[in-house]
Amino acid sequence: MRTELSFAPLARIETELLAVLAADTQTDKGPDAKPAPALLTADEAVKAAAAAVLASGEFKAGANETVLIHAPTGLKAKRLLLVGLGKEAKATVHGVRAAAGTAVRYTKPRGIRKLVFALPESEAISLPASARAAAEGAFVGNFDADTYRSDRKDVSVQSFTAVAPAGAEKAAVEAAFAEGVIVGESQNFTRALVNEPGNVLTPTEFGKRAAAMAEGVGLKWEVHSTEKLRELKMGAFLSVAQGSEEPPALIVLRYEPAGVADGPLIGLVGKGITFDTGGISIKPADNMEKMKYDMAGGAAMLGAMRAIALLKPKVRVLCVVCASENMPDGKAQKPGDVQTAMSGKTIEIINTDAEGRLVLADGLAYAKQLGATHLIDAATLTGAVGVALGKINAGSFSNDDATYDKFSASLATSGEAFWRLPLGEEYAELIKSDIADIKNTGGRYGGAITAAEFLKVFAEDTPWIHLDIAGLAWNDDNKPWIAKGPTGVAVRSILEWVRSY
Ligand code: BES
Ligand code: MN
Ligand code: ZN
Repeated sequence: MRTELSFAPLARIETELLAVLAADTQTDKGPDAKPAPALLTADEAVKAAAAAVLASGEFKAGANETVLIHAPTGLKAKRLLLVGLGKEAKATVHGVRAAAGTAVRYTKPRGIRKLVFALPESEAISLPASARAAAEGAFVGNFDADTYRSDRKDVSVQSFTAVAPAGAEKAAVEAAFAEGVIVGESQNFTRALVNEPGNVLTPTEFGKRAAAMAEGVGLKWEVHSTEKLRELKMGAFLSVAQGSEEPPALIVLRYEPAGVADGPLIGLVGKGITFDTGGISIKPADNMEKMKYDMAGGAAMLGAMRAIALLKPKVRVLCVVCASENMPDGKAQKPGDVQTAMSGKTIEIINTDAEGRLVLADGLAYAKQLGATHLIDAATLTGAVGVALGKINAGSFSNDDATYDKFSASLATSGEAFWRLPLGEEYAELIKSDIADIKNTGGRYGGAITAAEFLKVFAEDTPWIHLDIAGLAWNDDNKPWIAKGPTGVAVRSILEWVRSY
């Protein structure tokens, strides 16, 4: 999608479709209070063109509500689309991101290729922040998961122009808009990987895609396989890979900005299970096809690395993705087996379906060995996190409050929803083993937490954040601003957290 930023008066823009935001300005909360939709633009011509629709009461400016006006009088645009932001008092830049996505997804199936989007004029929402969010939202909205459909028509929006009011601080708005393009494209890079079926995206192919991306944006990369895993004594990672015909891939990317020789080295570690059957503790057939997205944490790390390479923060970043299939075969590991992880810790395998924590155990240890001073991992780790938090918040954990506070602050920019869950000695008790140092499951209750406790053993005393994105990495339904399918969750938050160093 081509993007452009314009400072032209809205009424004079010739386009197929002009989208303008509206908010409900009603502050009275009484039972008889009617919605009072108002446009978030000072442009008199646009206001006049929309006046009748706003007065009709048909459009309430609810969040992502839309109404289309054909041949709007007084405008050069052929159509005027109003997109709601909800209550004005509660409107945020995150609403603008969604509204841009909604505008794109409204436009897309109607064969309209060019969209002009008026950035809202509102005291509460800064113009640069809304320019960035609009670009992100537009890219996110333009993505659909229908890659392999023969009847797929290329109906993507091909041109997106954001319009800022004249008098805006041009340089700041331009820089923010350019950032939004990078972030939106990086999130879609992740989504495209997550969408790939397991037969296409094997661990080897995952490594190739990571390498191609790294080449494209100028990151250093290495992709290793079984031999290197043996050399590093990655017994936990290898135990998952041993049941598959497909060799594992240990993907390592490095961002080393010129002139930054010391200071923190941020380690991103991703779970890259390209298909999770459960192994010998095999999963039921229902919904097993979904387990192609069990590499979403690894893909999120690659998307974040892409954005980091292009946005060039002044901090060194290392990325380790542990890619493998989890399959049952004659060589697969069995419940009761004991494995020795790279760190030397021994693990009793209770359930071969708790494989994510095994590959991450060695991924975390390797990132530490390579010098990481701060760690973050992302993984579709447990069904239990979805039981705890629904498909509303992803789960987050940390062994260090100061590190987590920085992550928490990043959420204000990313707009993503993570809820911090507790860790603690009583949970750690649940993964003690009779035969080995720890076991790989802690029972049904608090499953997301005991999984995090397992990872904490390998993060040791390095400041570390764990993101369990199992509930949010895949949308089961279409939403006005984002398609059904892979979401690319965590890319934006990880990026902002890295930039905070
Ligand atoms: N990949 C799954 C977790 C998952 C579940 C991701 C649903 C996305 C949607 C993970 O490897 C797994 O199987 N976890 C087990 C752990 C259990 C055996 C302790 C689970 O959640 O059931
Ligand atoms: Mn599993
Ligand atoms: Zn898994």
